[in-house]
Amino acid sequence: MLILGIETSCDETAAAVVRDGREILSNVVVSQIDIFAEYGGVIPEVAARSHLEVMLPVIDKALSDASCTWEEIDAIAVTHAPGLLGSLLIGTLTARTLAILHSKPLYAVHHLKSHVYANWLSSDVEIAFPVLALVVSGGHTQILHMPAHNQFEIVGTTRDDAVGECFDKVAKILGLPYPGGPSIANAAIGHNADKYKFPHPKVEGLDFSFSGLKTAVLRSVQQELGLPISHPSHDLKNHLNPEQVADFAASFQKTAVEILCEKLALAQIQYPEVKSVAVAGGVSANQELRIALPNAHFPSPALSGDNGAMVAAACYYEIKSGVKPIDPYSLNIYPRVSIEA
Ligand code: KG4
Ligand code: ZN
Repeated sequence: MLILGIETSCDETAAAVVRDGREILSNVVVSQIDIFAEYGGVIPEVAARSHLEVMLPVIDKALSDASCTWEEIDAIAVTHAPGLLGSLLIGTLTARTLAILHSKPLYAVHHLKSHVYANWLSSDVEIAFPVLALVVSGGHTQILHMPAHNQFEIVGTTRDDAVGECFDKVAKILGLPYPGGPSIANAAIGHNADKYKFPHPKVEGLDFSFSGLKTAVLRSVQQELGLPISHPSHDLKNHLNPEQVADFAASFQKTAVEILCEKLALAQIQYPEVKSVAVAGGVSANQELRIALPNAHFPSPALSGDNGAMVAAACYYEIKSGVKPIDPYSLNIYPRVSIEA
């Protein structure tokens, strides 16, 4: 079964053709990072307009890279939530129009489910169920219990910021470029991760909290520089030297990874029957997290971030589980406000 997957939830315009949920025939991703690096973050209206400009060429390229015609495509899958509303609308409206035009069944796929399924794209080994999935992205930090394909229960979630968002905000304080995750990881290489100590949040159960860690870094930077807590955070970077930036990056990264691993270990105690752990989402590209979880499954780094292949893979397992396509003439493809997995 050949599925065309379309993804536009944030600042990547992506389309891919995947066979039977595993074999990637093409995977085209056009990133808007260059545009948003200048602003230090995503501007939703600009993102939506950029998706509109490249959406159709990206889909054309996905089909031609896969040497595949519209007749050969069995279904169209599109991210419908969660994400930036304007961005999601471009993807969902495009998918809906193409489904009507080419008479294809249309599936609306949840973004976090897609991230989890990136693991099935990358790995040759079978991932044994039940699975605990640690989803770590720019917008979410969740632990999902997955007893079988296409069955998800949220057992832990962040009460405030997502871990990726925390990387991005700390990078901003340190004057490192957007997106913050890779910038912090690069700056940290070979530097002292024990120089600065940050507390771990005391959140009961499997829930996370990352806004306190961001504030702890801010206070620690102000203290290191001998500046008052009223000193504006956007100016701190002008006072830090490169050594301090690198040590703050390394110390922050170490703490963020420790917090994720502690909660995951707790989840494994609470769900002793779990046979595999799968990590997913943009932050799963992080090398220190990969080193800290040697027995977990990870997507290949290229599939950690947003892409269309993971959408097609998730859709394949939805179809296998008996999920029916949606009516492309109906309104239920439009992004929903709900963020449930
Ligand atoms: O999954 P994703 O591409 O988009 C969302 O669904 O949010 O995740 C983007 C997030 C950003 O916060 C980015 O800083 C973070 O993933 N990220 C990383 C790394 N690469 C991307 N965080 C830590 N280390 C990385 N190497
Ligand atoms: Zn994502």
